[in-house]
Amino acid sequence: MKYVLGIDLGTSGTKTVLFDQYGTAVCSALVEYPLYQPHNGWAEQKPEDWYHAAVDTIRSVLTKSGVDKKDVVSMGISGQMHGLVMLDEAGNVLRPSIIWCDQRTAAECDQIHEIVGRDQLISITANPALTGFTLSKLLWVRNHEPEVYAKCRHILLPKDYVRYMLTGDYATEVSDASGMQLLDVPNRCWSDEVLAALDIDKSMLAKVYESCEVTGHVSKEAAALTGLTEATLVVGGAGDNAAAAVGTGVVEDGRAFTTIGTSGVVFAHTSKLSIDPKGRVHTFCCAVPCAWHVMGVTQAAGLSLKWFRDNFCAAEKTAAEAMGVDPYDLLNKEAAQSPIGAHKLLYAPYLMGERTPHLDADCRGMFFGLSGMHQRRDLLRAVMEGVTYALKDCLNVLAGMGVAPAQMLACGGGGKSPLWRQMLADVFDCPVATTVSTEGPALGAAILAGVGAGLYPSVEEACREMIHVNPAQQPIPENVPEYAKYYAVYQKLYVANRDLFKDCLLYTSDAA
Ligand code: XUL
Repeated sequence: MKYVLGIDLGTSGTKTVLFDQYGTAVCSALVEYPLYQPHNGWAEQKPEDWYHAAVDTIRSVLTKSGVDKKDVVSMGISGQMHGLVMLDEAGNVLRPSIIWCDQRTAAECDQIHEIVGRDQLISITANPALTGFTLSKLLWVRNHEPEVYAKCRHILLPKDYVRYMLTGDYATEVSDASGMQLLDVPNRCWSDEVLAALDIDKSMLAKVYESCEVTGHVSKEAAALTGLTEATLVVGGAGDNAAAAVGTGVVEDGRAFTTIGTSGVVFAHTSKLSIDPKGRVHTFCCAVPCAWHVMGVTQAAGLSLKWFRDNFCAAEKTAAEAMGVDPYDLLNKEAAQSPIGAHKLLYAPYLMGERTPHLDADCRGMFFGLSGMHQRRDLLRAVMEGVTYALKDCLNVLAGMGVAPAQMLACGGGGKSPLWRQMLADVFDCPVATTVSTEGPALGAAILAGVGAGLYPSVEEACREMIHVNPAQQPIPENVPEYAKYYAVYQKLYVANRDLFKDCLLYTSDAA
């Protein structure tokens, strides 16, 4: 039996799963790490934390499973997208990584549009300049920390830093590179035009591969640390959403999924390049060669519930620990006790600004309609419903581009909740199913690893063999118009408060 490793480098932690060649998860391990938010709207992590988590989890699955290391033929890494890792000549990390949800770079986005031209930028990179994307983060460092920029010789994405540490190779692949804003997305190569216009040295960029291509093998040092052999191949891997697409079989036209992870995503595969001229959804290369995907992103999906859990649910956390259950199971039960609309309470999930559809780094979250009768269960339900409405906003933009999937797959931590899935089915008015394997991005990365090692002939064929779908949850007819009423109010909340968010930021003297 042969085995493949899928590593999922997320925002809250890194999960490594060892799969057998038939896609069955044999063993998994998770290591969490902190997110640093030194100012309102900033978000950083330490690349070293990601690497240590990868090493520890690989070693752990090898030890726990007892699988012979010689049978682990390849690995794929899936990662949180967009984060900027800057290395000096010797490959040392120069500063903490500014990650995907950081919102400090509005001025740099204006600078990019001014220099390159918004329409020209969209025609090359398929997306407008966004605070979440890597390029504006790089320019922020050049503008604010010129001494760091001067020492920088290599720019890598989070998962590509871990690859570098495991293999010694400076490499990336098309799906994650699409989110840097330096890739010519239609042609799947670095854009000389954007690089020249912004005076960025191309030698800082890694070599670009397709997601299932082999980029190298485990180095001697990394083999000693992880317990792998040097023969283990490493493939391109993919950005977390592109990897989740492979792990849920969304690799052909007409298929779509919704993730409720730290961020929330509505993702559709497309074999034809399709770009929203307003830039409200992203068009990226997908992990299948010669294909793309369009996706809407809401910044704080699972992050909203995690924020609520960590700040207001200490009792549930303690109770869950004593009962040996997941605290989210208890929170779900509590939210289910509140009715649709949470007694007329709405939540807007703009904790880290918002991407789809508002493209607004300055907006912030809110509860609307609080009354003395509300209890924690209502706030919890409002958080889950608000995230679902934000995902509906994403779906609406995709629908405007002609994407209308007959069925939605749900994945990510939030996708495991039957209550949240029913909300999705009712709000989207569309059946919502899950895949039998819940390993989404890790399985996707492992499938890519298997294709690279020659275990499977193609990504599509591997998915057809290995991905199986559970029966769908159907929309409940009487719930659909009920949610629609609240969604209509939710949509007006942003519009009514758009200017106030900016006023609030201006009136505060301290950036925090
Ligand atoms: C996608 C995005 C997030 C991150 C974190 O554009 O920013 O989905 O990849 O998961």
